[in-house]
Amino acid sequence: MNLQEIYEIVKKELSEKRFFHSQCVMERCEEIAKKMNYDIETAKKVGIAHDIAKEIPNEEKLKYVEKNNIEIDEIERDNPTLLHAKIGADISIKKLGFTTEMANAISAHTTGRPNMRLLDKILFIADRTSRERGFPDIDYLNSLLEENIDKAVLYILDKKIMLQIEKKAPMHVDSVITRNWILKNTEV
Ligand SMILES: [Fe+2]
Ligand SMILES: [Fe+2]
Repeated sequence: MNLQEIYEIVKKELSEKRFFHSQCVMERCEEIAKKMNYDIETAKKVGIAHDIAKEIPNEEKLKYVEKNNIEIDEIERDNPTLLHAKIGADISIKKLGFTTEMANAISAHTTGRPNMRLLDKILFIADRTSRERGFPDIDYLNSLLEENIDKAVLYILDKKIMLQIEKKAPMHVDSVITRNWILKNTEV
């Protein structure tokens, strides 16, 4: 499926605000993909589609995972919003013709995952630093990105983890596992 077709499908699934976010993430994916010499078209497709499942009501999300044999953990059961990543990945394969590599990036876009590939990292960073979010340390983040993309991933991961601590909110274990993986396996 080409980018335009994907764009139209996603547009129908989301509110104006969320679709605007998706467009901004798509643009940011393009920017980062250029810096990293990654295929721009693929990065843009993943960017526009990453939140395709975000506005499915939580009740429906739980039904969807059951029906489609998607494994979930206790934190996801208690916070079904988190499931939009896994469900989005499943939809992207079934409805948008995404490859496993592209679907994996969607699946990992909120928490990261161990063994993150370049596309996973591009989307993970783009989702947090798209222009409409007004990410406070954007210049610093971009300087990390110039240096080493793993440093940028770690920076965002740390911010996310600290935010959960400040909010006294539960943390998804995958964020912690991803952080440990980055520290052990990359040059950060
Ligand atoms: Fe998301
Ligand atoms: Fe998003």
